[in-house]
Amino acid sequence: MCGIVGYVGARPALDVVLAGLKRLEYRGYDSAGVAVLADGGLATARKAGKLLNLEKELAERPLSTGPTGIGHTRWATHGAPTDTNAHPHLDNAGRVAVVHNGIIENFACLRAELAERGHELSSETDTEVVAHLLAEEFSSCADLAEAMRLVCRRLEGAFTLVAVHADEPDVVVGARRNSPLVVGVGDGEAFLASDVAAFIAHTRSAIELGQDQVVELRRGGVLVTGFDGRPADVRSYHVDWDASMAEKGGYDYFMLKEIAEQPKAVADTLLGRIDASGSLTLDEVRIGASELREMDKVVIVACGTAFHAGLIAKYAIEHWTRIPCEVELASEFRYRDPILDPRTLVIAISQSGETMDTLMALRHAREQGSKVLAICNTNGSTIPRESDAVLYTHAGPEVAVASTKAFLTQLVACYLVALYLGQVRGTKWGDEIQAVVRELSRSSQDVERVLDTMEPVRALARSLAHKGTVLFLGRHVGYPVALEGALKLKELAYMHAEGFAAGELKHGPIALIEEDLPVVVVVPSPRGRSVLHDKIVSNIQEIRARGARTIVIAEEGDETVVPYADHLIRIPATPTLLQPLVATVPLQVFACELATARGNEVDQPRNLAKSVTVE
Ligand code: F6R
Repeated sequence: MCGIVGYVGARPALDVVLAGLKRLEYRGYDSAGVAVLADGGLATARKAGKLLNLEKELAERPLSTGPTGIGHTRWATHGAPTDTNAHPHLDNAGRVAVVHNGIIENFACLRAELAERGHELSSETDTEVVAHLLAEEFSSCADLAEAMRLVCRRLEGAFTLVAVHADEPDVVVGARRNSPLVVGVGDGEAFLASDVAAFIAHTRSAIELGQDQVVELRRGGVLVTGFDGRPADVRSYHVDWDASMAEKGGYDYFMLKEIAEQPKAVADTLLGRIDASGSLTLDEVRIGASELREMDKVVIVACGTAFHAGLIAKYAIEHWTRIPCEVELASEFRYRDPILDPRTLVIAISQSGETMDTLMALRHAREQGSKVLAICNTNGSTIPRESDAVLYTHAGPEVAVASTKAFLTQLVACYLVALYLGQVRGTKWGDEIQAVVRELSRSSQDVERVLDTMEPVRALARSLAHKGTVLFLGRHVGYPVALEGALKLKELAYMHAEGFAAGELKHGPIALIEEDLPVVVVVPSPRGRSVLHDKIVSNIQEIRARGARTIVIAEEGDETVVPYADHLIRIPATPTLLQPLVATVPLQVFACELATARGNEVDQPRNLAKSVTVE
């Protein structure tokens, strides 16, 4: 949430900052703003709405720019998305500018204190207090980094702050607590950003900032200290993707590109994790085999789409390892006093590695003595850093707000973890593991085949663009797939969409069925547990008898469903547990096309932001 960029170097800061903001706009697009140092002072521009509005403003009223600047793209928390509430915020003298991501929980009392001391605050934001506090501290210490440390010690809540001061024109200062901030180190220049995407076009050399740290950026280098002023250890890393991967590459939307990248993302996530003998070697899982053998429960915590991946993982973990597995929304988890101990393995799934609810859930689990394994797509992010072990998905940067390729790779990672647990605990024989691994290795081609047959799905989606509601049904692993299909449609098409366990229909939801209501049904393989298949065929008949328009996703060769399908979407035959890898893809395409047909912004759906860094 909220994208932040800071730059100090030799180039015009405004250009670097705007280009960085463009890459971060997926984090929030309620307003945008910049502050650059020029001619002994600060020049700023802020505009409500998308970055485009700010660019228009700058085209009409250009700013002169030096080589130091900061920028922000906002997802509003305190205060409406107006020009006045847009960042950067300044002190009364207009000498300090600050941008912020997060929530400063004690801002009301700080604001009252400032008002008593004669400060005039003009916005409704929590951020503005920081600009005023920084100005006060700077007036006595004349050192922006020290002023930042002093101010941060007074703040409560979660925040990333980046500031500049007109009296220190060669310095950008950043700070973080429970909110993301990474440093990019170039040749004679340095960058600060919420995400490496902002500076990947300039450098792939990055530094992770730890909790409660302040960083001072100058052209000649970077200095990191704790909020207490003590020098901090820093971990540098090389970003293993390049700028071209964060571009649309000829597609109209990032989402289309990311859907198309799924075969590669799935293959990359499997790469290097299976040795010559067919055994799994998950090097990053630094929890010892003996500890894993002692585990008597698995708890998965995640949000949104990642939660759906967790729901699917439960079926695989329990089936392959016979360990009880619970899956919980991270936002609910720690507020209900869950039963956790050192024999509980907690798996935190997160694409961004920064989702606040998931982070808080894993911290709670570790406080109770449980080991946490993160499944994450973002190197250097907080969730893997704070976990005992991590299994990275190799989806590459996911820019579209709606998660697609990250979801498929989360599934692959979950299957790998489940098999690995089966391997170390001896609940699966080597040849059984190899058989599943062979099927998993084939899934990349299967996803490719699904993608090659999506034209009828797109046509169907366009024909349903005027509808108000679409329902999704599934059983077993098809149930989370139905939930995911509904979530994609809600967030992209702004339609009423709901996913149900097909068996629950008769307990209420069937009352929703009316003439011509589109209902998508995910049909399990007839070759697997045929009882599941037979049951869902009955469910399709029940809803069709009541007028529903049935859209049936069924594997190739399943002829039983043909008489009851108004629209039939074929997917390759896969083992039941792996079916979500192929069954989800048509639902992503369906939602994307339907949203486009309704004129919605596919990559940046309203009210949403990628990476939800506040609770
Ligand atoms: C939906 C979507 C969200 C995320 C959720 C968790 O398409 O993208 O529901 O899945 O916000 O995000 P991460 O995986 O970054 O923790």
